[in-house]
Amino acid sequence: MSTDLSTYFEPRDDSQDLNALSLSKTALGMKASKILTISYSVRERIAAGADVTQFTVGDFNPKHFPVPDLLKEGAREALANDQTNYPPADGLLELRSAIRDHYERSFGLNYPVSSVVVGSGARPVLFAAYQCLINEGEKVLAPAPGWNNDNFSQLVGAQLVSIPSRPEDGFMPTASSLRPHLEGARLLVICSPMNPTGTLIRRQQLVEICDLIVEENARREEAGERLLYLIYDHVYWMLTFGDHEHITPPQVRPEMARYTLFSDAVSKCFSGTGLRVGWMVAPPHIVAKVKALMTHMGAWAPRPEQLATAGLLNDPSAIESFLETFLNKLQTRLNLLHDAFATWRDEGLPVDVIAPEGAMYLSVKFDLIGRPGFPNAESVRLMLLEEADCAVIPFDCFGDQVNLGWFRFSVGAVGVEDVEKCLPKLERALRAVHAKLQG
Ligand SMILES: Cc1ncc(COP(=O)(O)O)c(C=O)c1O
Repeated sequence: MSTDLSTYFEPRDDSQDLNALSLSKTALGMKASKILTISYSVRERIAAGADVTQFTVGDFNPKHFPVPDLLKEGAREALANDQTNYPPADGLLELRSAIRDHYERSFGLNYPVSSVVVGSGARPVLFAAYQCLINEGEKVLAPAPGWNNDNFSQLVGAQLVSIPSRPEDGFMPTASSLRPHLEGARLLVICSPMNPTGTLIRRQQLVEICDLIVEENARREEAGERLLYLIYDHVYWMLTFGDHEHITPPQVRPEMARYTLFSDAVSKCFSGTGLRVGWMVAPPHIVAKVKALMTHMGAWAPRPEQLATAGLLNDPSAIESFLETFLNKLQTRLNLLHDAFATWRDEGLPVDVIAPEGAMYLSVKFDLIGRPGFPNAESVRLMLLEEADCAVIPFDCFGDQVNLGWFRFSVGAVGVEDVEKCLPKLERALRAVHAKLQG
C-alpha cells in the first residue's frame, strides 16, 4: 500500500500561500537562470521535432568532446580499489599537491599547498569565497556581461555593482572603469577567458587593474579598512587560441597573491562538467575558512574523481596531447562561425563579430534592436530561432544592459556538421531581414 502525500503540499487557501510565505528571504529572492530557461525551452522545441542548432549551453556534448582517458581510467581504477569513503574537507592531499605543482609549472607561481582547497566544481568554491568575504550589504564589482555574479551576490546579500564594458576592451573591465566604484568595494570579479564573450584580458589591462588594487589596499591598510579582494575566475584558462596568452594577476604583480582568489576546475579545460571537481587557490587564511564552510556544506568532489584529476595534472604530456585535439575541435567550430559572420559584415549585413580568443564562445552582434519589428534582444533571439533554427543567448541574460545586440554562441554541444547546416539558414534569414529593413 502507498499513501498519496501530494495533497499535503498544495496551498490551503488562494489568498495567502503560507507555503511560499514561510520560505526565507534568500529563497524568495532567488532568480531563475535566464540562460537555463532559454536552454530548456529550446530543448523542448528540439524534442518536439524542430531541427535546432543548440548554441545556448555552456556544456560539452561528450559525443563530440570526451574527457581525457586518464580521467576515465583513473576514476574507474579508484572505484575498483574501494576509494569510496569521505575525502578530507579541503580535498585529497594528492590532488592539492598536484594542483600546486600544476600552477608552478604553468605560471611559475610557487604557492604553499595550504593555498589550495578542492570542491565539487568551481561553483561551490566561488560561492564559499563570497560567503567568507562579504557581509550583508557590502559591494561586489563585476563587469557586465558576466557569469553568475548576480546569483552569488543575491545569496550572500551583497550589493552587486555591474561595471559596463565595451567591445573594444574585449568586454573586460579597465582600471578607469573601476576607479569610481572602488570606495567600500570588497570584491572584484574578473573572468578570463570570459564567459560569455570568449575574450581574454590583455596584459596591460590586467597590470593597470592590479596596480589599482595594490594602491587601494595600501591605503586601506594605512586606514585600518577591510581589504579589496579579486576573484580571478579562470576555469577556461587552457582554452586559448593563436597568439592569445592567458596571464594571471600574481604573474604581472607578485604582490597580488595576497589579494587574488583563483577559481578553476576540470569542468571546462578537460570537458568534465559532470565530474564535479574544482578548486580555489588563494591566501591560506581564506582557504582555511573555505575549508571550514566545505566541512559544513559537504560540497566535496567525489574521491575517485579527485584521484583521477591528480593523475592527470601530474602528467603534463597527457594534458598537452589532450589539449591539442580539444582546442582544434573548438577552434574549427568557432572559426566556421566567425568567418561566416565576418564575410556577411563585410558585405554590409547588419552583423559584427569578434575573432575567437579563448573558451568555447563567440561574441556576435546583430545590429537590429530599435529597427521595425525588433524592440529588444528577445525579439532578435526569437527571429534567429524561428527563421534560422539557431538557438543563442543574448548578453542581457548575463546582466548586460549596455551592449545590446550582442549574443553568445557556445559550441560545446555542436558538431562541425551542425554548424555547417545552420550557416545557410542564418544567411538566408539575415538577408531576408536586411532586405525588408532596406525596403
Ligand atoms: C566562468 C565560469 N566559472 C565557473 C563555472 C562553473 O564551473 P563548474 O561547472 O566547475 O561549477 C562556469 C560554468 O559555466 C563558468 O562559465
